Amino acid sequence: MKALVKGMGHALPERILDNKELEQMVDTSEKWIIERTGIRERRIIDESETTSDLAYRASLMAIENSGISIEELDLIIVATATPDMLFPATACFVQEKLGAWNAAAFDVSAGCTGFVYGITVAEKFLLSPEYKYVLVIGAEAISRIIDYNDPTTCVLFGDGAGAAVLGRGDSEAGIMATYLGTDGRGTKHLYLPGGGASQPASLETMEKGLHFLKMNGNEIFRFATKITVEVSEKIFAMTGIKAEDIDLFIPHQSNMRIIKTAMKWMKIPEEKTIVTVDQYGNMSAACLPVGLSLAVQEGRLKAGDLVLMVAFGAGLTYGGVLLRWGSD
Ligand code: UT7
Repeated sequence: MKALVKGMGHALPERILDNKELEQMVDTSEKWIIERTGIRERRIIDESETTSDLAYRASLMAIENSGISIEELDLIIVATATPDMLFPATACFVQEKLGAWNAAAFDVSAGCTGFVYGITVAEKFLLSPEYKYVLVIGAEAISRIIDYNDPTTCVLFGDGAGAAVLGRGDSEAGIMATYLGTDGRGTKHLYLPGGGASQPASLETMEKGLHFLKMNGNEIFRFATKITVEVSEKIFAMTGIKAEDIDLFIPHQSNMRIIKTAMKWMKIPEEKTIVTVDQYGNMSAACLPVGLSLAVQEGRLKAGDLVLMVAFGAGLTYGGVLLRWGSD
């Protein structure tokens, strides 16, 4: 028995924020952004919407593509760093919007690695006969925690959501390996200081801008290039699969330079790699499922293809998933 992707979906806000517009807002330049990150534009969620709305829209597409009914969902897992509220879990809002009354629902907080964590948790649930279908969503309204006066962060991020319906299968297709890791010594490199139990929201936290994402870009950059290759190698060692066997590589989309370095080290060619960072920026936990959903939509996957997804993020967390594409 293997856990299997039954259907993918994604939702992207319509509003485009391009580099030219950012030049008007903050001390940056289109040239710097493109050279240092590869990002051309990103999407910004509408004021009337929130993370669970994007998650809901991505989920509807994934459920339709899976061929199952909403009533058949046993569990909803939302991976997000930008929940609608600290509690209840965003997954509960998604459950309500879907009317998925038979599903339990909870969130996973693992930063940009959230979707990999979510898939891994879902896979374990699917080993149990009580859970037949699990909806895993990566969704972010990251623009809500970005300081648009801070050029070192605001040019990087964008909003979006991707969703996967997972079920069980008996064929070759399905999840072949998952690998998760964390280095808590890196919590100080990417975090949202205000609004939690350590620094509850107050006038002072607002004045100090503690409700905005803080990032030590250089530290994360160093970590990211190393860990993307290490996670991939770990998965290759677990499965006997080699880098040249991979048909589609979906690395976390935070910076084109990180993606290119990983591709070079692993000798995975451009045509086998999904790149969305140029068009959508870093959508945190939504990057991988949006990338996979777009690949499916564009007909880039055929039965038997090997897909490797690798991510890293706040925590510092990291992880990967290897799956063989196809239906049961
Ligand atoms: O998914 C979450 C994980 N996050 C990441 O993966 C982010 C990883 N880090 C990165 O992608 C890169 O470190 C950044 C894109 C954040 C920064 O690029 P960098 O090449 O590492 O630049 P830097 O931080 O070393 O800064 C170089 C210069 C500095 O100016 P000085 O001190 O050399 O005069 C910065 O102030 O670039 C300046 N700078 C900018 N200039 C124009 C920083 N941000 C900007 C900007 N526009 N937006």
